[in-house]
Amino acid sequence: MSRDMSYAGVLSRRPEIMKQAAGLDFSLFESGSIAFDYERMMNEAGFSIEGIQKIQSEHGVGNTPIIELRNLTALARKLAPEGKGARIFIKDEAANASGSFKARRASTAVYQAYKLGYKGVVTATSGNYGAAVASQAAMYGLKCIVVQECYDSRGVGQPEIIEKARKCEALGAEVIQLSVGPELFYTFLAILEQTGYFNASLYTPFAIAGVETLGYEIAMQFRERYGKDPDVVVATNAGGGNLTGTARGLMKAGAQSKIVAASVDLSGLHMAADSQFNRKSFTTGHTGFGMPFTTWPDRTDVPRSAARPLRYMDRYLTVHQGEVFYITEALASLEGLEKGPAGNTALTAAFSLAQELDQDQMIVVQETEYTGAGKHIQPQLSFARENGIELKFGDPNDEVPGKNIILPSHPKLIKAQDADLDHMRKSLIKNALSNYNLIPNDADIKFLAEETKTNVDYVRKAIHNLINN
Ligand SMILES: Cc1ncc(COP(=O)(O)O)c(C=O)c1O
Repeated sequence: MSRDMSYAGVLSRRPEIMKQAAGLDFSLFESGSIAFDYERMMNEAGFSIEGIQKIQSEHGVGNTPIIELRNLTALARKLAPEGKGARIFIKDEAANASGSFKARRASTAVYQAYKLGYKGVVTATSGNYGAAVASQAAMYGLKCIVVQECYDSRGVGQPEIIEKARKCEALGAEVIQLSVGPELFYTFLAILEQTGYFNASLYTPFAIAGVETLGYEIAMQFRERYGKDPDVVVATNAGGGNLTGTARGLMKAGAQSKIVAASVDLSGLHMAADSQFNRKSFTTGHTGFGMPFTTWPDRTDVPRSAARPLRYMDRYLTVHQGEVFYITEALASLEGLEKGPAGNTALTAAFSLAQELDQDQMIVVQETEYTGAGKHIQPQLSFARENGIELKFGDPNDEVPGKNIILPSHPKLIKAQDADLDHMRKSLIKNALSNYNLIPNDADIKFLAEETKTNVDYVRKAIHNLINN
């Protein structure tokens, strides 16, 4: 009997398709309610830090350098109050195979596919992860299919996304390019079903465990070189795996560093809207992903996401597009380093944050990514202009996403803004209640306290206010 390949038919088979392609039975960790056993799920991913380090070191991943940005620190000190201006460092993740930290995530995912005997891997991403999976799959001799949301309905694609498609193809992947919309998930499911390949999701415990080495290495490298952990680690945040894995790795090393998330502020732009798809200059590390995923992580392609950033973040800073372009150029002209947009988002936040901290404190920007072709400032700004975005110099605080990009007329105008974490915590609790539609039990309340890095009293009070307002 032939299978029903209509949209509704394929989506109705989602649970079986996902189970067959996940290599992991998520139901083992479920409680039947809001709570699930997150730590058990992470442990049963079956990787120790040493185990991951071995897999990664044999596949061109990890052990990336730390570089101090002395000139950028000097500029921050010029703008900071007396005695302020923390030292800024980067962890150069562009040195990984495929050019970004996503290689860490792909290394464990593809290893797992190989170990379980899958013949190939499929991933749905428009980002660096596609290239990372393609690169790791090539090393293991596995087939790789990348499903990308690339174009708007006119068939026009963002330079960065097109650049990443080329990179995936260069690394031997078959790339399926789609226009923005619900087609992506349908195509992804249909391919998984037809090929029987592994779902190299960004959000499995394997993938997130792969990022733990990033945090662990930071602690070890700082202890060896400076005799202490960095005071602050800034992570660019979108779907939350970068921050989650890094924070967990730091904790496994016993580090007490503060964890700060950073995203480009794209508030007001609708990510899924065809008309707005090409009105942004950043394809990841922005609030269009960062906010929804932080306040509800389980909107991914696995039943329970292993990326749960609100459990770990101490602060969430947003920066403007124009500020990140400025810092990207400053990094090149002051430090002689050309890096890509996502890592420079965290660097922009760090440049602002350094001015609040004492000079003997150390901030590490936990990752950089490669740059080139479509990721560069020039194609991005030309594309923005072609799409009707006004470009000018001025105060980046006046920037309106989708309308203009304001390059700071002076570096003193670069000021990261605090997102309201309290509001985000309450949003997560609200989302949990509305998604499960039940009265939370004691285990759920404890779980929500862990999810929001608060305590049971905070959660009970938030629930009380939600029910009574
Ligand atoms: C280079 C780089 N940095 C940061 C991020 C954000 O990571 P996450 O989605 O895990 O928050 C991405 C993801 O697209 C990325 O490619």
